Amino acid sequence: MNHRILGLTVRNFRTLTDTKLPLGPLTVMVGPNAAGKSNVLHALELLGDVTRKGIEPAFEDRGGFDVLAFRGGRKPVSRISVGVEGIWSDFASEEAPDRYELSVSRRRLRPERGRERYTTYRRELFTQHPAEGAETSVELTSDSLKVSSPLPADHIWESVDVGPMASAMHLDHALPTDAPSARAIDNVRRHLSQIRVFDPDVREARKPWGISDSGRYLENDASNLADFLRGLQEDGDAWEFLLEDVRKVVPQIRDIHLVTPPDFASHRTAVELEEEGLRGRTRLTEASWGTVRILCMLAIFHDPEPPLLTCIEEIDHGIHPHALGLMAQRLREASERSQYLVTTHSPVFVNELEPEEFVPCERRPSGASVIPARKPADTRRVVEVAEYEPIGNLWFSGSVGGTL
Ligand SMILES: Nc1ncnc2c1ncn2[C@@H]1O[C@H](COP(=O)(O)OP(=O)(O)O)[C@@H](O)[C@H]1O
Ligand SMILES: [Mg+2]
Repeated sequence: MNHRILGLTVRNFRTLTDTKLPLGPLTVMVGPNAAGKSNVLHALELLGDVTRKGIEPAFEDRGGFDVLAFRGGRKPVSRISVGVEGIWSDFASEEAPDRYELSVSRRRLRPERGRERYTTYRRELFTQHPAEGAETSVELTSDSLKVSSPLPADHIWESVDVGPMASAMHLDHALPTDAPSARAIDNVRRHLSQIRVFDPDVREARKPWGISDSGRYLENDASNLADFLRGLQEDGDAWEFLLEDVRKVVPQIRDIHLVTPPDFASHRTAVELEEEGLRGRTRLTEASWGTVRILCMLAIFHDPEPPLLTCIEEIDHGIHPHALGLMAQRLREASERSQYLVTTHSPVFVNELEPEEFVPCERRPSGASVIPARKPADTRRVVEVAEYEPIGNLWFSGSVGGTL
């Protein structure tokens, strides 16, 4: 079964007052600084964190309800909602997708000794299609779990105890696996727990890294780049493809070595480059900033076991425009294996996209984001009228939205 996210809906989360963003295999957001692109990634990351930690810790780690609730509008926001549509149960389809929505609400209580007091509660609603023609729903409100399903096997778990802030995404052990709707919830949970948001930190990525099991997964800040590359090297094929790509975009690099630096007693991996015309090797700590970024991006694209949804911040940052064509090509190939949602400021990169992959983002004077600022069909029409001018050029000239 090919599990996939078809779209994201967000209400009152940071600048996303009312966002409905369809997600294809590859989605690329462009738009002015502070338009709300990263907020989209934050919303998805929040859901990932809910599966790992639960609702309250996921909110607290980000500063709590006040920090996350939209701060514009006439009165303070009392509910934040983040939801996804996708295919997780056996009979879901693009026409009849499964849904998961988390809403966190806050209600003001009577002040005590002059102090403001609030109570917070959540609602989780799952809609799914575990049998032919059967739409089922599972709803968690305060401390009750309500199952609405024509399937008898679903009703064995109605009596599961849930606390007022508990999440079915985090309570997997409490859900009986032989209930069809609980199985579908488990599929959503596993999918969302795999969401990754990469925002590589070049300074960290340069450093040698301790050899560990986590080398299989690149950290979100790419701080374990050296160890991750060592894992790719052991895998073989992916490493050869990565090396070939590096040589194309940074031609003076002849080879990449993963070594244990002598100044570390413990087991650590460091990256060293063999460069055309130079004696000795260049340690990654001495390599060019853009080269480190390129290594991070290619490591993500060539990951043989990618997460189901990979988000990447500012994909073109620090990379020469002539190298971006290859980056776009690799990203497109990677998106045949799993889903990608990325942000960019590069018209050259955007020139490689189809209208369905292009999401212009804007922000209103009210502080609210407009994402997408245009529908793909409208972008396609502009492209046709412009006799198939590449989208990046049209974007830069202000014809398809997402500009200052
Ligand atoms: N709770 C909030 N309410 C309203 N605006 C917010 C909130 N939290 C963050 N923002 C705004 O979001 C903007 C940054 O959005 P971001 O998604 O990082 O932009 P970009 O499109 O550059 O990635 C800032 O202007 C910030 O003030
Ligand atoms: Mg951003």
